[in-house]
Amino acid sequence: MNRMTVLDLQKKKADNQRIVMVTAYDATMARLVDKAGVDMVLVGDSLGMVVQGHSDTLPVTLDHVVYHTACVARGLQRAHLCADMPFMTFQVSPDQAMLSAGRLLQEGRAQSVKLEGGVRVADSIRKLTEAGIPVVGHVGLTPQSVHAMGGFRVQGRTPDDAERVVEDALAVEQAGAFMVVLEAIPAPLAAEITARLAIPTIGIGAGVACDGQVLVCNDLLGLDLSFEPRFVKRFARLEEIVVGAMEAYAAEVRAGTFPGPEHAFEGRQKPKIARLY
Ligand code: KIV
Repeated sequence: MNRMTVLDLQKKKADNQRIVMVTAYDATMARLVDKAGVDMVLVGDSLGMVVQGHSDTLPVTLDHVVYHTACVARGLQRAHLCADMPFMTFQVSPDQAMLSAGRLLQEGRAQSVKLEGGVRVADSIRKLTEAGIPVVGHVGLTPQSVHAMGGFRVQGRTPDDAERVVEDALAVEQAGAFMVVLEAIPAPLAAEITARLAIPTIGIGAGVACDGQVLVCNDLLGLDLSFEPRFVKRFARLEEIVVGAMEAYAAEVRAGTFPGPEHAFEGRQKPKIARLY
């Protein structure tokens, strides 16, 4: 089966069809997401939080994202695969961004890369797109700048800050990005940006007017119900199902009812004597 290309994704905006994007970090989840017909999979640096257990994305390295991207690539048949560029793998210079993005495509087998920032990363986006590497921009709340932002806060709430987010989105488009993620900005601001840009906008905490939506797979599946952000909808409550299954397994092991005879192998069979006549 053919993988979704950047042209297929952009055509969706032209055809007024919403783009469905979700994160994945391993081949098993990639296979399930692909089977569900999701258009685009992001190996997000959110893996630092949901896979590695950190409180932010800053400890994630390029090696980590290359590794998880290669795992996800092996599970996909149809969905487009985008890999996140982690903290300090593109901020130094456009040349550094080229080398990092190159590894994500070459070793991770990503079809595109995503990087956080607007005006300040426009030169890197230009360099990558000129080299034939499709880029997804990411503006609004940019988690790699958590310390500069004073926490994970909604962006663009004041007129000046809203103008800054608009300028970032326009800069990303002008630099050649084929898509942009809008994270944690007021819904009317996301609607305005979506109307002004020719490239698709993908929202997370940015309202329904975006050209598509992205969620972290662990969040939409409800794998950690202690974490309840406003922008997440639980489409399942897998934490309850997983804990219930583990409790049932533990109870059967302790009671000696698992494994039953149907899960065990027979002893040595008598060797069969071949009939010659
Ligand atoms: O790292 C990530 O998963 C992301 C998405 C939430 C957009 O950047």
